[in-house]
Parts: sequence; structure tokens; C-alpha cells
Amino acid sequence: MRAIDQNTITDAALEQMSSTPDPRFREIMSGLVRHLHAFAREVDLTPEEWLEAIRFLTAVGQKCTAHRQEFILLSDTLGLSALVNALHDQRAIEPATKSSLLGPFYRQDAPMMDLGSSIISQGHGSEIVIHGYVRDASGKGIPNALVQIWEPDETGNYDLQKHDPSVMDLRGCFRADSEGRYYLRGVCPTGYMIPMDGPVGDMIRAQNRHGYRPAHIHFVIGAPGYRELVTALYIAGDAHIDSDTVFGVDESLITSVNKNDPSSPFPNLPSIRYDFRLAKASAKDVSGRVGADPSQITAKTSPAGA
Ligand code: BEZ
Ligand code: FE
Repeated sequence: MRAIDQNTITDAALEQMSSTPDPRFREIMSGLVRHLHAFAREVDLTPEEWLEAIRFLTAVGQKCTAHRQEFILLSDTLGLSALVNALHDQRAIEPATKSSLLGPFYRQDAPMMDLGSSIISQGHGSEIVIHGYVRDASGKGIPNALVQIWEPDETGNYDLQKHDPSVMDLRGCFRADSEGRYYLRGVCPTGYMIPMDGPVGDMIRAQNRHGYRPAHIHFVIGAPGYRELVTALYIAGDAHIDSDTVFGVDESLITSVNKNDPSSPFPNLPSIRYDFRLAKASAKDVSGRVGADPSQITAKTSPAGA
């Protein structure tokens, strides 16, 4: 019998898993075991620390509901979601707009609206216009692209944080026109703190981090034959633009509010213009969503009939 000690345990675990029939599952689990064991050795993990980690992960799971995904928040705050986005972008076969975090406030059933409509349903401060084109890699507009948008309000809150889930505010779905042009009205968002009332918030405080996200507007944009784009636009000048708690900001996604843009369909309102680029889908492309409507996640993991 092989002696199990700190030097042989990794190979023993890998050997036992080598019978996994699915090659990708085998690769992922062996990589995880190798790195997890190396991590425990590197920090010389003690039993109390191991138990604290188990307690923490248990609390993360217990905080999850159909409207809250604490595990995604954990992945976001560890930089893992941003890394998975970057790896996804690298696999594109053509240049495209960079991905950014989907975050925990995406909802799959936002209402379909006519171009030019306002996504404000609950009465907020001043309106802005958000407009531009959805283009392919060569710059040609993509007709009828579906633009899903959601944003926090001028106090930095999403509808789910203020209302019961039957209320939808500051979110909507739009079909670009025959030239790929989209335009709608919303509010100028404010930066906000990520949800801090759970175990991830405890971790952020213990690390002396501020917990803020800079002001941003979320988008999921798709069209048949193209890679779905999950991204966000960030508003220049925000105090936390260089220190986003979830690492979503890229220079190429920073926009400003323009007081006088003659290309805006509502030139009397302040506006943000951004042209998105979608890459053609390749045969290997699967979803680019690092996240989901939280209700979809609990629905998939609930035992049948629960
Ligand atoms: C968001 O942008 O909605 C978000 C992303 C990650 C963590 C918390 C919030
Ligand atoms: Fe957000």
C-alpha cells in the first residue's frame, strides 16, 4: 500500500480520477486538484483555516436565492469572472468589443421595447440617450441585432434591490434597425457598492477594499451567426474607474456623457454614443455569459420537483 503523505497525496488523487470518461471533466478536475494542493502547501494551510474556508463557502451557498447569487459575487471579487471573460474574448475568430461582467442583476425577462423608448418605469432624475450601432468586424451594421440593457439608477441601485421582483425598472430589450442602429433613453447611472451584506462583503471588509463599482451600463448583444457580447460601458471620471472591485473596466469601454451630439436621435438630451462590434460565431462558440439570471441557476440546481 502506498504511504499517503504531503508529497504523495496529489498523485494518489490524480490517479484515482484518471478513470473519468469525459476528457474535459478529467482535465478540469486534475488541474483543480493540482493547483488546490499546491495552494495548501504554499500557505501551509492549518486545520482551523481549512474549517474557516468551509464555513465561508457554506455561508456563500446559504446566501444564494433565486434573486441573489453570492457565488458569482465571490468569483467576481476574486477576479475569476474577469479572467474567464478575457479567455473567452481571446477565443474569438475576429476582433470584437471586449466583454465585461454580467454581474448579479441580469434578468432574462426584461420587456421588449420600441427603439427610442425610455427604460425608466419608476420615475427618476434626468434622462439621457444611449445610442450607436451594432457592427460586424468589418464595420458593417448588423440589422435587427438584439440589444438587452440594464442599469442602476442615479442612486446606484438596481430594481431588484428596491422593489419586489415583479417590478422591472431601468431594463429593456431593443431590436436594432435595418442599419444596426440602436437608441433608447435611460438615466445616467452612479457608481455603487457591490452587495456587502453577505459573506463576500465580510471578505471585502477584512481585506480593507472599498467595495465600489464605477458607474456603468450593462449590455447583452446578440444576432444570429455572431458571438453574443456581454459587456458594460463605464462613465469617464468616476472616482473608482481604476479600482473596480470586480475588475470589469477596460479603457476601450469608457464613455462620456455628451451634452451636444448632433448624431443623437434626441439632440436636446445629454447622450452616450457607443458602437459595439460583434465577432462571427465559430463552430466551437458556446455561451459567453459569465453569469446568469440568478433564478436560472437555482432552477437548474434544484432537485426535480422541488
Ligand atoms: C454589476 O455590475 O451589476 C455587478 C457585477 C459584479 C458584482 C456586483 C455587481
Ligand atoms: Fe452593474
